[in-house]
Amino acid sequence: MSMARQFLYVDPKELQGQMYLSHGNHILVIGATGSGKTASLLKITYNLWKVGETIIWRDDANLEFLSFLPYIDCKLYLPEGCDLHLEKVLAPSMVKRVEKVHYDWHRPGELMPSFDNERLNILLFDLFTIDLETSVRFWTQFFWELYRYKRQEIKEPWSLVIDELNDLAPGKARGTFAGQLRLSSHIYHSLKKFRKMNLRLVASTHNFNDLHAPLRGQFNYYLLKRMRREHVPGRFVNYAHVIERMSVRHAILVDRYGNFQFIHPWTEETRWHEDLEKLITLKPQRWKIPWSGEVREEEEDEKGRKGVWKKRTLLLLRLLDELDVARVDYNFIRRLFGLAPGYSSTLSQMVREIPDEEVAEALKLLDVEAEE
Ligand SMILES: Nc1ncnc2c1ncn2[C@@H]1O[C@H](COP(=O)(O)OP(=O)(O)OP(=O)(O)O)[C@@H](O)[C@H]1O
Ligand SMILES: [Mg+2]
Repeated sequence: MSMARQFLYVDPKELQGQMYLSHGNHILVIGATGSGKTASLLKITYNLWKVGETIIWRDDANLEFLSFLPYIDCKLYLPEGCDLHLEKVLAPSMVKRVEKVHYDWHRPGELMPSFDNERLNILLFDLFTIDLETSVRFWTQFFWELYRYKRQEIKEPWSLVIDELNDLAPGKARGTFAGQLRLSSHIYHSLKKFRKMNLRLVASTHNFNDLHAPLRGQFNYYLLKRMRREHVPGRFVNYAHVIERMSVRHAILVDRYGNFQFIHPWTEETRWHEDLEKLITLKPQRWKIPWSGEVREEEEDEKGRKGVWKKRTLLLLRLLDELDVARVDYNFIRRLFGLAPGYSSTLSQMVREIPDEEVAEALKLLDVEAEE
């Protein structure tokens, strides 16, 4: 880590200071639309980076991470075959700050060792798919691999930042299929372990109740922004009259033991890491940047799976023949496979061409079964 980032700029006696310094402690920002959740995440993320944490920022397709660019270089992770054409919109000096890395989204495990501590690691996935199931499958696997990797590398403090966590881990009846509930509960179980591995989740939700219920209690710090009275979580109900009137420049920070700090001003400004006298502004902005590519379940996978079954069926046909169980009617099989008339002889040939060792192997298995 560079020298400049080692400056302690927070007061560890204050709740805010404790929050930044206690690696592995999860943070949840809660607030209505427009209350400044993303702005808060930008600021918190920047400060966590300053205290030396490795940052993984999940972009939810709004590209708000670009607010970091004037200040920190980014490593931008794009799914293979997809691209973001930054040069069409951003100044060359900004584009230069981004290194694009393409990853195989079927193997998110390959991402972990390549995350960079000096730069921000920006993970793009959701921009490139409209299929919720694909997205859930990817994130489920990502959480698995993150856990698998981080438990070998416990010492280094990491932060995974997820704006609108309620998208990935929605509350009951809001998740529309089983896979989604599995992801929610997986995130819940991960959080408990992540803390011990110095891996923190920094997340936001626009409504506490939109978040998977077991997850809600798993955070060490809650940053409350303005929200409607009826959305104020039960344990903070005493402050509801304050919370519903707060401006974007207000925030309440509460830890899991109920200690709280009223922060005013909670600004978009923060101290520049190289010159603590200098302030910089991290203002969220949504970008429309041309992109290309799409993440889709590969047809080859589908074909691959079908191929396995075809092979098994052919082997079975050969066994029927070897064991004299039945005379195989290839015309019938051909129709069963939905193939054109000329294919009966092709099929019979394929069955004959199955290597003898494979057949012997299968017969051995059958023998064992028979003896049992
Ligand atoms: N502390 C602050 N001081 C001044 N302006 C702020 C502050 N926080 C946020 N803003 C401004 O308020 C607006 C909304 O902020 P932001 O996008 O962070 O809200 P949000 O809760 O993420 O909204 P959404 O639900 O739409 O994502 C932005 O224009 C932002 O610049
Ligand atoms: Mg936002």
